[in-house]
Amino acid sequence: MSSYFANVPQAPADGILKLSVLSRADTNGTKVDLGVGAYRDDSGKPWVLPVVRKAEQQLAADPQANHEYLGVGGLPALTQGAQKLIFGAGSEAIKQQRVYSIQTISGTGANMVAAVFLKQFKQPADAAVYISKPTWGNHRSIFETAGHVVREYRYCNYTTLGLDIQGMLDDLRAAPRGQIILLHACAHNPTGIDPTAEQWQQIADVMQERSHFPLFDCAYQGFATGDVARDAYAIRLFVSRGFELLVAQSFAKNMGLYGERTGCLHAVTALAAVLPQVSSQLNRLSRATISTAPAYGAKIAGTVLQDAELYEEWLGSMEMMSRRIKKMRDLLRDKLVALGTPGSWDHVSQQIGMFSFTGLSKQKVDRLREEYHLYMTDDGRISVAGLNSGNIDYVAKAIDAVVRSD
Ligand code: LMR
Repeated sequence: MSSYFANVPQAPADGILKLSVLSRADTNGTKVDLGVGAYRDDSGKPWVLPVVRKAEQQLAADPQANHEYLGVGGLPALTQGAQKLIFGAGSEAIKQQRVYSIQTISGTGANMVAAVFLKQFKQPADAAVYISKPTWGNHRSIFETAGHVVREYRYCNYTTLGLDIQGMLDDLRAAPRGQIILLHACAHNPTGIDPTAEQWQQIADVMQERSHFPLFDCAYQGFATGDVARDAYAIRLFVSRGFELLVAQSFAKNMGLYGERTGCLHAVTALAAVLPQVSSQLNRLSRATISTAPAYGAKIAGTVLQDAELYEEWLGSMEMMSRRIKKMRDLLRDKLVALGTPGSWDHVSQQIGMFSFTGLSKQKVDRLREEYHLYMTDDGRISVAGLNSGNIDYVAKAIDAVVRSD
């Protein structure tokens, strides 16, 4: 019997999500999952932020609450709060009505809406999308699926495991004018390497010279430094320098709303006059793909963003999460140094956000998974949030053993 689907080629498994499946199936008591980027508390458990619990309780107790469709564009309490979080409460662009924000299916949905929008309206029409080398495993797939040509700019210096700023600037300079440049706003995924404030200025200089269009992906605001304003530095810098841009924003990590798929796409235009055109197209794309956005996570995040007390408490929780991750980074580095593990491990402590790009080869990653039940992505990225006081010795010893076995 033949099949209509016989010519559909097998797609490769997602490099990040496949790890969750493998790790869940692994019943070994020593297993450690450092795969997917999701915060865990010091006992290795998912952590529901106290402000999220409070917002949920408020919603559950509200007799007026219902499950009606949200309006086009999403929940205003969310989109307006999210806008202020990204651009700052005193943002000139917001005051001048040059910002439109639409609710999306978290950061992935925001990237996809941006990708489809840019495919239809980018100028020049043959502009490619440039992603950092390396980048989040899903970026290429999203932009290729939307029909873009995807190219890479240098980002990681694979020897020092720091930023290859010269390579990045050279590649941005060498690209044809008017390309779309995907930038990680903070806490770069997978490397944990962020440009300094000065380097962001240099990046902005080159992008201005070359008339490139910035698309920021902001999935970790609050996780890089523990401070939401500092983590929005690059975006606010580009806006203040007069760039038009798009920002994909996720509340998965910083509010712990992973499965609720809560996020926004923000568009900043140079002229208030073009905003209605842009917003009408984003609304149309959203209607065509998701009809209206999911309500539950939006109501939780909207409540936290609009309530001064909950908002303050949320900032404290983010600071706490980023502090715990930083502590784990330093501990892992210290333990590797104490074990005398060959190589330098300072990068583990210097990198920022949820991830560390360890520099471990694919072969070592495979051995760690097969022999030590330690899960990390093939590129050697670990989710530092998966480390805790109960597993850090085991992880350090496992890494030490495979590094020595050369
Ligand atoms: C990650 O990089 O692990 C997270 O962003 C989760 C995901 O969707 O890939």
